[in-house]
Amino acid sequence: MDFLKISNLSKSYGGVDANSDISLSIQEGEIVSIIGPNGAGKTTLFDLITGVTRADSGSVRFQGTEMSHLPTSDIAQLGVVRTFQQTKIFRDLTVLEAVMIGNHLHDHTTLWQSLLATSAAREQREKKRENALEILEFMGMADKQDLITQNLPYGEQKLLNIAIALAVEPKLLLLDEPAAGMNPMESLRMLGTIRKIQETGITVGLVEHNMRLVMNISERVFVLDYGELIAEGKPEDIRANPKVIEVYLGRQASA
Ligand SMILES: Nc1ncnc2c1ncn2[C@@H]1O[C@H](COP(=O)(O)OP(=O)(O)OP(=O)(O)O)[C@@H](O)[C@H]1O
Ligand SMILES: [Mg+2]
Repeated sequence: MDFLKISNLSKSYGGVDANSDISLSIQEGEIVSIIGPNGAGKTTLFDLITGVTRADSGSVRFQGTEMSHLPTSDIAQLGVVRTFQQTKIFRDLTVLEAVMIGNHLHDHTTLWQSLLATSAAREQREKKRENALEILEFMGMADKQDLITQNLPYGEQKLLNIAIALAVEPKLLLLDEPAAGMNPMESLRMLGTIRKIQETGITVGLVEHNMRLVMNISERVFVLDYGELIAEGKPEDIRANPKVIEVYLGRQASA
């Protein structure tokens, strides 16, 4: 059984086919990338997988469970979690608090219990704290736990978004342009972090424009263009694929 299986997925906005009859599979444990020019439909694909938007047709199965009708929270609970292209900042929260909030999905305390500050609620909170701290240590950000999130340098804001996603305990983690806007040092750190995440057993799907990162880290690459899947394969095959070269070089050259 495929870990994630997308079949004939389509979504259009007005007259624009953002995703057009896309079928692809991701296997457990791999790192795959989805590339393509601006507007190719990469974010839309993540939106459809994670239930942020509904497909017009097609199916998304994760470990055999059909997810295309499920709300985002159920999809996250099954283990499919994503970060957003736009970095979200939790204005007045500390770094540690922000990661603790990511963990709320696994909170079994009822509102009533937390209002009463029962020992169960206190215990749960302490567990969340420890768990969040572990994640920050893993990300190399434990020393930043008490900083207000908006005071983090840009690169670490992007890392914080991943830390928050990790708090949801993903099996499949989808990262939408994690290295966008980063300097070479920050990108290198991001590459190391994604590898480390994979080593813990989490499967990673990556949308990224940084080709050096993509070609370095991916076991397989999918290429979208105008909402269609035009190529898939190993990085070296994708690099040599005439259709892909046309999309990336042909248009740049004629632009
Ligand atoms: N919510 C929306 N409403 C209307 N059109 C949308 C919406 N989301 C995406 N689109 C359109 O669908 C197409 C695909 O957009 P999408 O954001 O998926 O591209 P992308 O590959 O992620 O691009 P980028 O690399 O710039 O992030 C674009 O033409 C976009 O304008
Ligand atoms: Mg996008």
